[in-house]
Amino acid sequence: MDTSSREKFRFFLKDSVRQIVDFRNTDQNKGIAPPPVEKPIPEGAHLIELVPADELHDISDMNVFNAIASRKSRRAFSSEPLTLKELSFLLWATQGIRKIADFGTAFRVVPSAGCRHALETYLCIFNVERIEEGIYRYLPIEHQLLLVSQPAQLSAGISAAALGQDFLGKSAVTFIWTAVPYRMEWRYDIAAHKVIALDAGHVCQNLYTACEAIHAATCAVAAYHQEMMDGLLGVDGDEEFTIYIAPVGKRKMK
Ligand SMILES: Cc1cc2nc3c(=O)[nH]c(=O)nc-3n(C[C@H](O)[C@H](O)[C@H](O)COP(=O)(O)O)c2cc1C
Repeated sequence: MDTSSREKFRFFLKDSVRQIVDFRNTDQNKGIAPPPVEKPIPEGAHLIELVPADELHDISDMNVFNAIASRKSRRAFSSEPLTLKELSFLLWATQGIRKIADFGTAFRVVPSAGCRHALETYLCIFNVERIEEGIYRYLPIEHQLLLVSQPAQLSAGISAAALGQDFLGKSAVTFIWTAVPYRMEWRYDIAAHKVIALDAGHVCQNLYTACEAIHAATCAVAAYHQEMMDGLLGVDGDEEFTIYIAPVGKRKMK
C-alpha cells in the first residue's frame, strides 16, 4: 500500500476529522428534520409478530460472567430450529428499543454515537420455527419482522455473497446489518462514518453474548462481496449498504 493510502485509511480511525467538520453546517444545525429512526414500512407489507420483550425474562439460565467467559466464534450449526422466542431475544438484545424520547431519537439496548442508530437489521431465515425461509427486516419500534423477499436458492446466494463462506447459508438465521449513513451524517457530517463502524461492533458483541446465554452459536463476518450482498438484500449500496454479518444457529455437538 502506498503511504498516502495508508495515511488516508488510518485517518479514518482518528477523531482528527472533527477538526475539519464545520458543525454549524450540519443538516441538524441547518434545521433539517431528522431522518426516521427506522426505514418505513411499505404498504401491504407482510409482518410477523415477535415475542414481546417483557416475555423474554426467563430465556436464559446463564449468568453474565459465564456468558462472557465462554464466548467464542462458532461456525457450525445443528439442524435444530431456533425458536421464535430465541430469535425475538436475539433481535431485542441487538437492536431492541429501550425508550422513545422524541421524533428521531430512540434509545436502544446498545449504545450509539449521538443516539443516531444508523443500522438496520436484515435476516436470512433458514430454520426458525413458524417462519418461512426468506429475507426479513427487523422493525425495532414495532418489534416485528417484515418480509423483504424470498429468493430461490437463498443459501447458495448468501454463501456466494460471503466469498464462499458457506456457513452463512447453513445457519438457522444469518443477521446482516446495513448502514443508513445519512442518519449519522445528519448530525456529524463526515465525522459520522467511524462511529457507525464502532456502533456495529457493539451490536455484534451483544449478539455474541446473547447467543452464549441461550447456548447458541455465532461468528462475526466482515469479509463479503459488497455488491452481491447489497444486491441480495435489495438495498441501493449508497444510501444503505451492508457493513457486518453474523450467522446464528443452535450449537452442533462435537
Ligand atoms: C470485525 C470482525 C470480522 C470478522 N470476520 C470474519 C470473517 O469474515 N469470517 C470468519 O470466519 N470469521 C470472522 N471473524 C471472526 C474472527 O476470526 C474471530 O473473532 C477470531 O478468530 C478470534 O476467535 P474468537 O472470536 O473465537 O475469540 C471476524 C471477527 C471480527 C471481530
